[in-house]
Amino acid sequence: MKLIYILINLLLILQSYSVYALQNHPLAVLWNIDDEHVPEWLEFERYLIAIDDILRPILEEESFISSFGGTYINIFYGTIIVNTVDFSKVDELLALPQIKPYNNSLYFEEANNSLSQLKNNFAEIFWLSKLKHAKNLYILTDMEYNNIVLNFFNRKDNNTEFLDAVKPFNPTIFYFDGEETPPTIIRPRRDVDNSKREIRNRLLGGEGVYNSATSRPCSAGFWAVNKDEPEPLYIITAGHCINETSGRNDFYYLPWNAQTNLSYLGPMIYSTDDPDFSVIQVNGEDVSPSFAISNTDNDQYKEFIITGDALLSSHGVHACKSGYTTHFTCGYVKGLNGIFISEEHLRSNLIITDLYSESGDSGGPVMSFVSPQDLNSVVLHSIHVAGGAGLSASHSIDEIFKNLEESCCIHSLKDLVLYLGNS
Ligand SMILES: *[C@@H]1O[C@H](CO)[C@@H](O)[C@H](O)[C@H]1NC(C)=O
Ligand SMILES: *[C@@H]1O[C@H](CO)[C@@H](O)[C@H](O)[C@H]1NC(C)=O
Ligand SMILES: *[C@@H]1O[C@H](CO)[C@@H](O)[C@H](O)[C@H]1NC(C)=O
Ligand SMILES: *[C@@H]1O[C@H](CO)[C@@H](O)[C@H](O)[C@H]1NC(C)=O
Ligand SMILES: *[C@@H]1O[C@H](CO)[C@@H](O)[C@H](O)[C@H]1NC(C)=O
Repeated sequence: MKLIYILINLLLILQSYSVYALQNHPLAVLWNIDDEHVPEWLEFERYLIAIDDILRPILEEESFISSFGGTYINIFYGTIIVNTVDFSKVDELLALPQIKPYNNSLYFEEANNSLSQLKNNFAEIFWLSKLKHAKNLYILTDMEYNNIVLNFFNRKDNNTEFLDAVKPFNPTIFYFDGEETPPTIIRPRRDVDNSKREIRNRLLGGEGVYNSATSRPCSAGFWAVNKDEPEPLYIITAGHCINETSGRNDFYYLPWNAQTNLSYLGPMIYSTDDPDFSVIQVNGEDVSPSFAISNTDNDQYKEFIITGDALLSSHGVHACKSGYTTHFTCGYVKGLNGIFISEEHLRSNLIITDLYSESGDSGGPVMSFVSPQDLNSVVLHSIHVAGGAGLSASHSIDEIFKNLEESCCIHSLKDLVLYLGNS
């Protein structure tokens, strides 16, 4: 009997060990495949994205916009699903020289809503959400549902008026009753240990930044620098990480899982609500900049190197985030023009994914893997700004830089670029 138990235990240990050993890379976990297959899957996803990039603008053209209802990538089916309202247009599309070579990667699925219908319904529903004071929801164009999806996250709200008003547009409606975890309260300690002064810690994207004016943690998105001046350096985090009524918002470095004394970073010098981001000017001497993103829970892939920034434009592809509370998590892109409405905020033009996040992750970088040859490299897309109800929302970096260039008051912030080291 005893021997059997030992054997069973041994088997269980071996099994869990092998599962752990085979799925180290975040994409192996997301796609539920072995590490060794990640490069070929990623290459295939890149291939489908390249085709989708050709296809999407064509489907927006006058001759197709009423016949097709958007596309999304499904890596498990290995195709781009093309929502098709009018099948008589399929041959015309496949006859185009740009599309013809890829006919085998397209799957035409019967659908009711054309892209023009979806655009119209989205605009109407967005407008009605303001008019009828809709509360606590996401609004997104979900290509998988071929519809506008409303995701309510507080069933107690009375959204009757709004719901009645949007009935003609027949949106898909979900309610989520999950609980939000209360924010972690961590008090700053300013008693810096002098003996450790000379050791400068690199602050990675996704690690914590603590604001003494809110007594709450957020996450560092990425380091930025003026393209013509090497100093000072800046950290971008979420806009709602600041206390608007406080005269000063001073930020401190808050490493994952670490109970060390917090190093001073510097003050917030610019902040906006939509897009939801703020700029911390790093005056503190204790931390040094980096262009890596934290995944330090993982022994094999502790850091991911940012090689640049890019727009996310395909539905259904993977996206990952790093953040102080839930660390590194991945999911799929659900919407690209999303709206998030809470008690205090309305944010638009959001990337909506189903990756897992909690409060404290705000500001953290959202990225994707792009190189089958280098599974340690990522491109940055956006910073996480809201989550809950099984979804997460982020603002694109492009929009952040555009806001700085066009609307920001401080001259040196107008030409900020992503910090990528001295090279
Ligand atoms: C795709 O195109 C090739 C060559 O033009 C053709 O032989 C094949 O039947 C097409 N496949 C589909 C699914 O239409
Ligand atoms: C399209 O609408 C019809 C009528 O409402 C419905 O029966 C059908 O299931 C819908 N098709 C799809 C693909 O949603
Ligand atoms: C919700 O609001 C509507 C109109 O604003 C009102 O008629 C209705 O009684 C309210 N329902 C609840 C459950 O409070
Ligand atoms: C924001 O700052 C004001 C003024 O310093 C303070 O009274 C208030 O408690 C702070 N709010 C939060 C959420 O910490
Ligand atoms: C934090 O600072 C205190 C006082 O300066 C020091 O005694 C302690 O060792 C420091 N702790 C760490 C983890 O650095």
